[in-house]
Amino acid sequence: MGSFSYKLFVKAESKVIINAPLMQVTVYSCILAISWMGAHMIVAEELQTGELMSLLAYCMNILMSLMLMSFIFVMVSMSTASVERIVEVLDEETDIKDPENPVQTVADGRIAFEKVDFSYDRSGSGIPVLKDVSLSINSGEMIGIIGATGSAKSSLVSLISRLYDVTDGRVKVGGRDVREYSVAALRDQVSVVLQKNVIFSGTILDNLRWGNPDATEEECKRACRLACADEFIECFPDKYETRIEQGGTNVSGGQKQRLCIARALLKKPKILILDDSTSAVDTATDAKIRKAFREEIPGTTKIIIAQRVSSVMDADRIIVLNEGRISGFGTHEELLENNMIYREVYESQTGGNGDFDEKGD
Ligand SMILES: Nc1ncnc2c1ncn2[C@@H]1O[C@H](COP(=O)(O)OP(=O)(O)OP(=O)(O)O)[C@@H](O)[C@H]1O
Ligand SMILES: [Mg+2]
Repeated sequence: MGSFSYKLFVKAESKVIINAPLMQVTVYSCILAISWMGAHMIVAEELQTGELMSLLAYCMNILMSLMLMSFIFVMVSMSTASVERIVEVLDEETDIKDPENPVQTVADGRIAFEKVDFSYDRSGSGIPVLKDVSLSINSGEMIGIIGATGSAKSSLVSLISRLYDVTDGRVKVGGRDVREYSVAALRDQVSVVLQKNVIFSGTILDNLRWGNPDATEEECKRACRLACADEFIECFPDKYETRIEQGGTNVSGGQKQRLCIARALLKKPKILILDDSTSAVDTATDAKIRKAFREEIPGTTKIIIAQRVSSVMDADRIIVLNEGRISGFGTHEELLENNMIYREVYESQTGGNGDFDEKGD
């Protein structure tokens, strides 16, 4: 289909190219013809100079309008190509569909992976991204995930909210296979803060309520307190009514991340997933956010993906991912003792003496 729009575009462009010189030739020939005839008529005293001038002006007006008309035709044929591409996207059916009698509520925050294999290529012949992943997470646990870039951390969590379906094995949430739930209900109760956060233009309250349109102002403020976003919001002159520019250009990266966390919290999810969502937040605030999670939403299962060991070391258990496989799953102390990868990451970030050398930014 791509080559089809390409051809349409080339066709439209070739029309534009012929169009411009053709129109120019017509306009200038007309001016020449009128001037030549007019000159003869003036000599024969059939026409006055002023009349010739107005004749020229009128002709130019008409020709200009014709020229613009021809541009409209060109533009229409060009936009047809674009419209077709847009419609193609809108008409695309998702591969992820609701089952017959979908389950609407997630019972609790339990998560289980049973022999999960996953590849982004639907045919299953593509490069496997996750290989033979089995794990079980209790409701209310705080789980850290750590691993090198490309070790499939984001892919692992995307299976929980069923952004993709597994290639083999199954993922269970609240004791049921994710494929038994209504997709909308599942995604409502599994809140994900994506690695690339999205902020819309509008007030802070508008942005927060995008997660839950019925949230009261009190609830919004509580979510911001949990995400440590209240401190900077209170500093704005308009507080919660502060307007955020398109793409969130007037808030900092760390502030944007905290707003996204607050927005995810407003859904009151059973499972909260933060995909590298505090990477731009200083370590002290990062710790404060985790403390608030532990104290104020103990029933919610929290999954925190991070590059910094300091962001996950106080989690109940930590998953160490390596090239799509689980290399270790346990507490900080257990992993330090028997997981090579974890120990290396820890030592490289602390300089081996147990002190994190990074300072809050
Ligand atoms: N949408 C996609 N389509 C095809 N392949 C993908 C897609 N997203 C990720 N991959 C591949 O899957 C592998 C794991 O990617 P993933 O995003 O899960 O890594 P990650 O651990 O989250 O990395 P990072 O720390 O950089 O966020 C990578 O090799 C990547 O090339
Ligand atoms: Mg990722």
